[in-house]
Amino acid sequence: MRLDAGYARQVAILHHQGGFARGWEPAECAALIADAGVAADGVFGRSSDPAGFVMSRKAADEAEILSIVVSPASRRDGLGRALLSAHLARLAEDGVAHVFLEVEEGNLAAERLYRHFGFREVGRRKGYYPKADGSRATAIAMRLDLT
Ligand SMILES: CC(C)(COP(=O)(O)OP(=O)(O)OC[C@H]1O[C@@H](n2cnc3c(N)ncnc32)[C@H](O)[C@@H]1OP(=O)(O)O)[C@@H](O)C(=O)NCCC(=O)NCCS
Repeated sequence: MRLDAGYARQVAILHHQGGFARGWEPAECAALIADAGVAADGVFGRSSDPAGFVMSRKAADEAEILSIVVSPASRRDGLGRALLSAHLARLAEDGVAHVFLEVEEGNLAAERLYRHFGFREVGRRKGYYPKADGSRATAIAMRLDLT
């Protein structure tokens, strides 16, 4: 389901639960969601709060997945797959032909999720992600052609 800026606070909380080094403030989430070039979708379980979200930035016929998170309590239940499936279908409807993303090396859940949809590795960027302990992790760049 498409998310509007009214979900900015829940998106900020979910993003925090993703464990990323840099958090997203609710105001930043609201601005992203309201941006016409950004596609934001949520997945709902039993609660009226989203159990997960995904956000992409679109430009011409390309899109980059900025973030995807499912709340820890709802993981490994197929929600990530349902969320990404609906999101990719929507991007295709919007005329997107190529989808790009970066995933931290060793993030097996995310890698497996992406590979399930046919994303393939197109490069590696050493030292891309700053880690809480001061070290830096490698990013795997992935690409999916929708058409
Ligand atoms: C990545 C994430 C969104 C997956 O959500 P999810 O709802 O748990 O995923 P699903 O239950 O739909 O499972 C999707 C696939 O990942 C696999 N998977 C999920 N968690 C896994 C884990 N901890 N270890 C290994 N594989 C895992 C599933 O087996 C499934 O594989 P399949 O499609 O080959 O059967 C979730 O783990 C998450 O929010 N992680 C933290 C944020 C993050 O790292 N986001 C990605 C940033 S690039």
